[in-house]
Amino acid sequence: MLILIDHANVDSIAKTLEYLPIDGVTTNPTILYREGKEPLDVLHSIKRLLPDGAQLHVQIVSQRADDMVAEARALRGEIGGNLFIKLPVTREGFAAIPRIVREGMQVTATGIHSSMQGFMAAKAGARYVAPYVNRMDNYGIDGVRVASEIHRTLRSYEMKADVLAASFKNSEQVLELVRQGVGAITAAPDVLAALIKNPATDAAIADQNRDFGFLVGERRTWLDLIKEK
Ligand code: G3P
Repeated sequence: MLILIDHANVDSIAKTLEYLPIDGVTTNPTILYREGKEPLDVLHSIKRLLPDGAQLHVQIVSQRADDMVAEARALRGEIGGNLFIKLPVTREGFAAIPRIVREGMQVTATGIHSSMQGFMAAKAGARYVAPYVNRMDNYGIDGVRVASEIHRTLRSYEMKADVLAASFKNSEQVLELVRQGVGAITAAPDVLAALIKNPATDAAIADQNRDFGFLVGERRTWLDLIKEK
């Protein structure tokens, strides 16, 4: 399962890359807007941070299929690397998916709010299909259930696409999709941080280290003991 950062803040991405096993970054127009900077500069900065081979997903903003194809070509020329062209699952987006795939680009179909959209985007040739879990929840649709259903459908037809579940509010939503074995998830740095945070872990380790301090002196480590031998 791949884990991506759904964010465009270079500092937050760098901090997350320091301690979590991350496979790439996804962006969208709103995420870039929040940074308030020239978006191409932001994309280049993110790309410089990422290890070789990591994925970078960038969303097309044109409305018509012809323009989407032209925009995708330009992005490929500008960004290169392991770029994924995010296309919305609108009528025009669907028309653009096979055209962009035929040109050798990788496509992530985005904005998915139903199982059928996910299946059809995979059939059109998208490498990833991105159901918006929390946004579906907000519409009274069970987002985790839809994302799981798309995953099962893709596997049952042995399609070459994976779910890239997106739009998470909390780590529970992510955990359920981990259980289901979806191919990838993308979430903001705070949601990713919550995946590993557990106060019981902090308490257990603090107790153990306090006891070691009683034995050898507060805050002294194996390094101190070995140096002083
Ligand atoms: O990147 C697309 C998706 O993650 C949107 O998330 O938080 O705007 O619902 P959000």
